[in-house]
Formats: sequence, structure tokens, C-alpha cells
Amino acid sequence: MPTFEQLLESWDGETAVIRRDAAAGVWMFVCIHSTKLGPAGGGTRMKVYEEPAEGLRDAMRLSGAMTAKLAVAGLPLGGGKAVLAVPEIPTGEARRDLLLRYAELVDSLGGTYRTSSDVNTGVEDMDVIAERTTHVFGCSEAKGGSGSPAPPTAKGVYHGIRASVAQVFGSDELAGRSVLIQGAGNVGARLAELVAQDGADVLVADVDRARAEAAVGRVIEAGEVYDTECDVYAPCALGATLNDETVPRLRCRIVAGSANNQLAEPGVAALLHERAILYAPDFVINAGGVIGIVGLEELGWTREQLDAGLAGIGHTLREIYERSERNGMPTAEAADAVVAARLAAA
Ligand code: NAI
Repeated sequence: MPTFEQLLESWDGETAVIRRDAAAGVWMFVCIHSTKLGPAGGGTRMKVYEEPAEGLRDAMRLSGAMTAKLAVAGLPLGGGKAVLAVPEIPTGEARRDLLLRYAELVDSLGGTYRTSSDVNTGVEDMDVIAERTTHVFGCSEAKGGSGSPAPPTAKGVYHGIRASVAQVFGSDELAGRSVLIQGAGNVGARLAELVAQDGADVLVADVDRARAEAAVGRVIEAGEVYDTECDVYAPCALGATLNDETVPRLRCRIVAGSANNQLAEPGVAALLHERAILYAPDFVINAGGVIGIVGLEELGWTREQLDAGLAGIGHTLREIYERSERNGMPTAEAADAVVAARLAAA
């Protein structure tokens, strides 16, 4: 594992703040990757690592991904991410005390970094952080937060599916199109309702069969997802489902879903392109949650403005697909080019 110095010297971000919290044996890493479009936004991940440098590496990598996600979503925020590298996941008073000390660190940055929840942190934790700083998104509704990000995420994916269907079939009508949803959780179950309302034939798979059965649609076995014929495969469960083993098996025309990090490695984008399967880049299509949080909590949007912001995901995907077609490049590369253009124009 590289040292802190080696990691920091190889990073293309702006500022990294490292604090050792001796009281809890915790390393706090706040990585501000870019403030070109505005203050850096991004969640706080709490995790146990073998070595603290792994936590720093995660924060650096994830902060870069936030720059891309926020830029392509058209939001006036740059990218950042924080990691609390803990010896074990704290609970009770110890957790609260740690979060209050972390909140003081966030506050000391004067708003250049604004946090929200991520792996192992949630709404209750954001409420604690808000006791010491105003630079926090995603508190409970009782404390002025905007509520669960899953509904706007599902709505954004819905718009993304329509844009993708239009690109492949020439019309964004979903009636008669088959949409296979992998993962009937908070996002997937809502997405199933939305596409079913438009007349899509919905197939749904979940390792927890009861969840699949509770959702709208025809249940298929979780193990059969990659071999099932459909127009749209919507990964809404876990990451890395697109890899060397699964892509050759896919029997869909489009991959468009909410899961983060769908490509097991960047080269998989080219495999999809070769097979003429249209891939909606994950960080573009799943930005509805962050659009909802930032729109409602920071920009003071009404629900109508939020609806327009979520529909924008579809427009951005059309722009990416046109660029991909024009240049004969995978859609993931075209999405990176759109990010670069938006940052350059800032
Ligand atoms: P969730 O935890 O509510 O639902 C995930 C579902 O997938 C669960 O029902 C689980 O049983 C199922 N599942 C797990 N492994 C599976 C497998 N191999 N095959 C089929 N089903 C499987 O999660 P949520 O909130 O619905 O998020 C879904 C995905 O979207 C995650 O990858 C998440 O990171 C991503 N995402 C979620 C956002 C949100 O606002 N909730 C925002 C952006 C991305």
C-alpha cells in the first residue's frame, strides 16, 4: 500500500485534510477534489480499513467521482468526499461524540466541503453533525432535511430509461417494452411502479424473494437475470454486475439502472459498445438522489423545479448518446467528455 505522501502526490484533487482523532483511534480524511463549480459536496463514509492509507485512497477516488456526478447533473457544486477510518463501527455515545468532533472539522473548513450520508452513515448521524455545523445535507425532515433520496433517484432512472429507449427504438414510449429490474429495494420497487404505469412489461428479481413478490411485475429468479431476454436491464441492487462473465450473456438492448459502479472495470464499457448494448453511465442516471437533496435543501427548489431537474437526466443522456454515436465511442467515455466540457466551461 502506498504511503499518505505517495497517494497525495499522485492525486489530481485540490485539498486533502487529514486529522488523527486520538481519543477514538480514528483517522478523518476530507478530500476536496474540485471547487470549480462550487463548494465541494459529497458524503461521509465510515469504514474499517486494514490500513489508514486505504481510507485516504477511498476518499480521494470517491471525491473525484463526486466531481463528475455533480458536474454532469448540472449542479453548482464541486466534488468532495470524507472517510472516517474507524477501528470498529462505533455505536451509542461514542458514535455521537466522534460525529460531533468530526462536525467541528467540517465546520472549520468554512463551507468549502459540505457533507451528507454514505456507507455506514445515515440521517440520524447527519442530525448529530448539524448540531455543530450548517454545512450538512440530508438531515431528517424534522430537522429540515428533504427526506429519503430513493424516490427522486427512481424518478431520475425512469427518465433515463425513457431517453435510452428513445435512442434505441426511436420513441420513448414504454408501452410493450420489457424492463427487468434487478433488486426490488427502495429504488427498484419504485422504479417498477413508474415504468408499469407507462405500460411496460416489468420483470423483477431479488435475492430476497419476498421483496420481489411485493413489487409490481413478474418475478424471475435472481440467478436468471443475465440470461433473460428483455429490452432494458436495470441494475438496482449492487455494483460490478457488468463484467467479462455477464456481458456476453446479456440478452437486452439497454442497461439503465441505479446501482453505483456498475462496470467491474472501465474496459467493460467497450464490451457493451461492441455488443451494441446501450449503457446509461451509472453516475449520470443515478444522480436523482443528489439532485433532490441539493435542489430542495440548497437551491430552494419547489417540487415542480425538482421534477424538471430530474427530467434533465434524460436530456443529459441524450446528449451523451449523440456524442457517443458521433465519435464512435462507448457511452461511458462520452459521459467523461461531457464532464470535462462542463468543467472547462466553468
Ligand atoms: P436497497 O438496499 O434498498 O435495495 C437493494 C435490493 O437489492 C435489496 O432488496 C436486496 O435484497 C437486493 N439484492 C441484493 N443483491 C442482489 C442480487 N444479487 N440480485 C438481486 N437482488 C439483489 O438499496 P437502494 O437504496 O434501492 O439502492 C439500490 C442501488 O442503487 C444501490 O447500488 C445503491 O448504491 C444505488 N443508489 C441508490 C440511491 C438511493 O437514493 N437510494 C442513490 C444512488 C445510487
